[in-house]
Amino acid sequence: MISCDDLSVTLPGANGPVNILSGVHLRVAKGEFVSVLGTSGSGKTTLLRVLGGLQSATGGRITCDGVDIAGPPDGVVTVFQDYAHSLLPWRTVRRNVALGIEKLDKTERDSRVDEALAMVGLSERDGEYPWRLSGGMQQRVQIARALAMRPRVLLMDEPFGALDAMTKASLQDQLQQVAELTGTTVVFVTHDVEEAVYLSDRLVVLSGSPANIGLSLDVPLPRPRDQIATKERADYLELRHEVYAALGHKVGERASG
Ligand SMILES: Nc1ncnc2c1ncn2[C@@H]1O[C@H](COP(=O)(O)OP(=O)(O)OP(=O)(O)O)[C@@H](O)[C@H]1O
Ligand SMILES: [Mg+2]
Repeated sequence: MISCDDLSVTLPGANGPVNILSGVHLRVAKGEFVSVLGTSGSGKTTLLRVLGGLQSATGGRITCDGVDIAGPPDGVVTVFQDYAHSLLPWRTVRRNVALGIEKLDKTERDSRVDEALAMVGLSERDGEYPWRLSGGMQQRVQIARALAMRPRVLLMDEPFGALDAMTKASLQDQLQQVAELTGTTVVFVTHDVEEAVYLSDRLVVLSGSPANIGLSLDVPLPRPRDQIATKERADYLELRHEVYAALGHKVGERASG
């Protein structure tokens, strides 16, 4: 469905060009949920931007359904890390959600907007302006806008990073439900190990400088997953352990300060 072969990206740095990604191979099958983990600055957002056709690669081949990506492909929608800059402040919530489907006739558009707002629990706030909402609600508006477009591929950059634990858990479950129901392919960037293991069919860890995929791990946990039961399984805990180790945490080590 969406893939890159031998991808490399070089960006301008203060002291000349910097090689950010090198030799990255990633194949994401139709309907698969793949998470990308890695420390801050490892190149996760860069990888996602290249897959979404928002940034060009320096080398390698990037394809969607076998076609080379040059610019954002049809049906591939990106949810950005920075929600504050992705909503239009002069449009109501409802009209922000409708932004990507304005070519549809009004009845279809209204029903998709209603459905998407219900999915993220914001039906009651549809007439308000985004800047009157909390940060978490604004991020849910951005997610609703992506869902209303019924994407084939959803590229998400730390979409739940700014949310409280309860909202985060509920959106994780809504996302897994929607992805399963619609067969959407998801590439999900996160720095949250538990979230990556909980949601994914497979996860990859970006590491090194320039970064490539240091670990690729299948997550064969049964679906649908459950916030309590899944996280108590021995195989969930083992996977989590393995990923922490790949990210460089020593077993038993605690963050200080
Ligand atoms: N537009 C740009 N021009 C030059 N360098 C950039 C640009 N965007 C990102 N970089 C550099 O590329 C590297 C990877 O950045 P990227 O944003 O992809 O990391 P990330 O893994 O998403 O980090 P985070 O977890 O903090 O979001 C960093 O060293 C960053 O400084
Ligand atoms: Mg990032």
